[in-house]
Amino acid sequence: MFAHLPTPQQDPILSLSVAYRNDPRTEKVDLGIGVYKNNLGETPIMLAIQQAQQLLLETQTTKSYVGLAGCEEFNTSITNLLLSGTSAMGRVSAIQTPGASGALRMLGDLMKVAKPDTTVWLSNPSYVNHQPVMEAAGLKVKHYRYFSTETKQVDIGAMLEDISTAGPNDVVLLHGCCHNPTGADIDFEAWKTITALSQKNGFIPFVDIAYQGFGDGLDEDAQGLRFMADNLEEMMITTSCSKNFGLYRERTGAAIVVGKNQTDVNNAKGKLLQLARATYTMPPDHGAALVKTVLNSDPLTDIWKQELVSMRLRLVNLRKQLCNELRTVHNSQQFDFIESHKGMFTVLGFSQTQMTQLREQYGIYGVGDGRINIAGLTEKDIPYVANAIATIS
Ligand code: LMR
Repeated sequence: MFAHLPTPQQDPILSLSVAYRNDPRTEKVDLGIGVYKNNLGETPIMLAIQQAQQLLLETQTTKSYVGLAGCEEFNTSITNLLLSGTSAMGRVSAIQTPGASGALRMLGDLMKVAKPDTTVWLSNPSYVNHQPVMEAAGLKVKHYRYFSTETKQVDIGAMLEDISTAGPNDVVLLHGCCHNPTGADIDFEAWKTITALSQKNGFIPFVDIAYQGFGDGLDEDAQGLRFMADNLEEMMITTSCSKNFGLYRERTGAAIVVGKNQTDVNNAKGKLLQLARATYTMPPDHGAALVKTVLNSDPLTDIWKQELVSMRLRLVNLRKQLCNELRTVHNSQQFDFIESHKGMFTVLGFSQTQMTQLREQYGIYGVGDGRINIAGLTEKDIPYVANAIATIS
C-alpha cells in the first residue's frame, strides 16, 4: 500500500521549528512560526489563562464528552467577540473547531457540499495552509493580486481589479487583520468597496481572522468584517485562539456562518456537525473551556484584554526598534515599511536564497517566502538581526 508514496515535501513553516531546535548554535533567532515571545524569549501562559486553568481545576468534575459543536458557551462568546453589535447576530451559527485550520477545513467541506463548483480566491501571497486546505476539500483555488513588492504595501488597485471579476460561484478569502505573511492590511474603505462588490457580483466573502487584537485592537481589528456582516446576507468566518489567548497547542478555533436567516444558519451548522463527525467527531475541550471561562468573567476578561494590549504594543515597539537599527546599519530608509505593517509578520522582500543565507550564515530562521515573525524577536536580538538583514540585502 505505501510503496508508491513519494517522499513528502516538508511544511515550509513547521519544518523550520524542528530545524531551529536542532541547530546547535547559541546565537540563533527563531523568526519562523507565528508564536509570540516576551522579552525573555519565552511564550508564557497568559495570566488570565493561568487563572482560568486554576478555576477549571477546582470546578471541573468530569471529562465526559461535550458534543459535536464543542462548548456552546465558547461558541457564543467567540461569536460575540467578533460580531457583537452587528445585524448578523440573529442569523449566525458557530462550531468550535481544532484551531483555525480545522475551521478552514470544515468550511471548505461545507462549501463543497453546498456548492460543489465553488472557486476560492486567495490573496497572493496568503497563509501557506490556505491553498492546501481548500484543495484538500476538493475546491478550486484562484489568486487575486495583493502585495506590491515595490512599495511593500497592499496593491489595492490590482486587488480590487481581480476581486471585481469574482461572481456567484466564487468565495473570496480575506484576512481579517494582520495579513499573513505580508503584515500589510487593507483599510476600512477597501472593506466597504469589497462589500459593495459582493453585493453587486454575488461572491461570498470568507474572513479568516487569526490575529484579532494584534493589529490596532480587538474592536478595531474586527471593523472590516463587522461592516460586511452588517451589510451582506451571507459570509463565513474562521477564527483562532492560538495567538490572542496564547493557546497554540490546545487547538482552539471556531467556524462561523452568517446567513440570510436563522433557518439557513441552523442548517449550515447541522451540516458542519455531520462533517465534523466524519472527520474528528469532537474538538478538544481544554482550550475552549479556558476561553469560555475568561470571557464569562469580567475580572478575567479585563486581565486578558490588558495582557493583549501590552503584547500588541510590544510588537509595535519591536518594529520601531528594528526600523531604527536598520536605518543606522543600512544607512537608508529602505526598511521603514516594517514599522507600517501590522501584527506578527512582515515580508522583507528577500528571495529564497537570501532567506537561506540568513539561516545558514546567521542562524536567523525566517520562512522561505521572505516572512519574518516580529513577535519572535527580543530586544537583545535586534542589533544582530538588523546587521544580518543589512548585510544580506
Ligand atoms: C504561522 O503562520 O506561522 C502560524 O499560523 C502557524 C501555522 O499554523 O502555520
